[in-house]
Amino acid sequence: MKILGGSNSYYIAKQLSDLLNIKYIPVETRKFPDGEIYVRIDGEVSKEDIIVVQSLAKHPNDSLVELIFICRTLKELNASRIYAFIPYFAYARQDTRFKQGEAVSLDIVANLLEWSGIDEIITIDFHLHRRKPEEIFKIPIHNLSAMRKLSEYILKNYRFSNLILVGPDEESEQWVKTFAKYFDTPYIILEKTRLGDENVIIKSEEELHEANEAIVIDDIVSTGGTLRETAIFLRNKGIKKLYAVVTHALLAPASEYNLSYYNEIISTDSIVNPYAKVKVAEIFTDFIRRRL
Ligand code: R5P
Repeated sequence: MKILGGSNSYYIAKQLSDLLNIKYIPVETRKFPDGEIYVRIDGEVSKEDIIVVQSLAKHPNDSLVELIFICRTLKELNASRIYAFIPYFAYARQDTRFKQGEAVSLDIVANLLEWSGIDEIITIDFHLHRRKPEEIFKIPIHNLSAMRKLSEYILKNYRFSNLILVGPDEESEQWVKTFAKYFDTPYIILEKTRLGDENVIIKSEEELHEANEAIVIDDIVSTGGTLRETAIFLRNKGIKKLYAVVTHALLAPASEYNLSYYNEIISTDSIVNPYAKVKVAEIFTDFIRRRL
């Protein structure tokens, strides 16, 4: 088995090469002056099982095209099995046609990745809302979670006196429940209505158990609108210290101000970001060791 990484995630591929003791193959990637993408795999891949690592974040379209070019080229160069480790899977939120005429982006991306020759996909905290990944893909997809490692990190590094765990919306309950297994403390799931890309309304009729501190848990922070409105709601209820835990810190431009409502943010390195405390390479390594 050998490993290589696209330009978004070669740092994760290099960590995995050390952790799993498998050979790292460099990939040359660059852009032509007109913006087109160039890819060259700089090593022998024929008859080898290959792990390709690429997060589809920050520049999702470029990262996706690069991933497709890498995998299709591996196939043409006679690689055996191709495992795509995609720590952050973009386009998962457009999983249905909300309005007549919209592209169901997730289905199109899934078809492209299958066509590129990938045999199995491994990802982390895939945005699960209306559809399960195994209903979308024809190839196996393994959806790992960072929530256990994030819980362990917080338990090891923080002390709380009167804590509540908070999910900002319905789909966050799955992640909050994982946290609740490790923290002996109550949790609450709020109700979110999305008004637009950056604006949401957060409300709840439930009691907050007179907590002083809250950990808000979600899969993604993009604009930070969800976390901002959740923070305002919790501060109005008397919560004094706020922590946000997210697997994928996409950090779209408006997020810096929105995150200033929080005392601390804790995230993974699925995308390069200043809040990364948990390494996705370790989560993937645990998975591979269980498989081998
Ligand atoms: C959506 O349902 C997700 O779980 C996140 O809550 C959402 O993507 C966060 O986006 P933003 O930071 O732009 O509010």
